[in-house]
Amino acid sequence: MYLVLLGPPGAGKGTQAERLEKELGLPHVASGDLFREHLSKGTALGSLAKTYMDRGDLVPDDVTIAMIRERLQRPDCAQGAILDGFPRTQAQARGLDDMLADMGRALDGVLYLAVPDEELVQRLSGRWICRQCQTPYHTLFSPPAQAGVCDACGGELYQRDDDRPETVRARLRVYHQQTAPLIDYYRRAGLLVEVDGSGDIESVAAALLKVACTLAEKSDTPCR
Ligand code: AP5
Ligand code: MG
Ligand code: ZN
Repeated sequence: MYLVLLGPPGAGKGTQAERLEKELGLPHVASGDLFREHLSKGTALGSLAKTYMDRGDLVPDDVTIAMIRERLQRPDCAQGAILDGFPRTQAQARGLDDMLADMGRALDGVLYLAVPDEELVQRLSGRWICRQCQTPYHTLFSPPAQAGVCDACGGELYQRDDDRPETVRARLRVYHQQTAPLIDYYRRAGLLVEVDGSGDIESVAAALLKVACTLAEKSDTPCR
């Protein structure tokens, strides 16, 4: 089963994708995490991506599509994947359709996490991320057991450079201009399911799991 988590910066895509990964046994494929991984390894793609990420702009479609295509071709994605942060433009959405078609697959659903802008700014300003496994925390809404240390793997927590208020504003602008049109695109394709992302983490997780399990039944993926 191939699912897309669509939503603005800070909506909870990463938080919820990690839970769905465990519940559904499907890999979490996050374009932002992949770019940050390239950056930490010092690859050319990482340095290119950084110039865009620092401004809150989107990395160009061609390199983004190629990176995801390579990721989806790895064996762990053969039975499905949970895509987080990709696609973000109409060209990327078409790119995804093409790569899944080449694999003899198709997208099963797009879960749109709707959250008002004011709440997003608050979520991003309190976010801390694990340097090793990328699990997101929040000083108020999802604090780690020990400050600065990841519950899941013991890694060091840090704040993302692009979570500064001015970059968050740019990311929200870019989201509304370039990514929000995908809501209609997928609604017309009959793939969109809107989930209210403004509740607490547990209630959003429960709502998403319910939708994902309904989709899983249709695509013969067992829901644990
Ligand atoms: P990316 O890493 O994808 O960032 P984003 O889309 O801006 O999303 P975030 O990761 O900021 O938010 P999230 O929805 O994952 O929220 P989270 O779960 O962490 O992309 C970064 C950059 O990479 C882009 O700006 C672009 O430059 C580039 N890029 C990436 N993909 C690209 C693509 N396809 N094309 C081109 N360029 C691309 O939660 C946020 C915080 O809120 C956390 O602290 C969390 O604990 C807390 N929280 C979560 N849920 C709740 C809740 N229900 N209640 C209270 N707090 C909550
Ligand atoms: Mg994320
Ligand atoms: Zn960790």
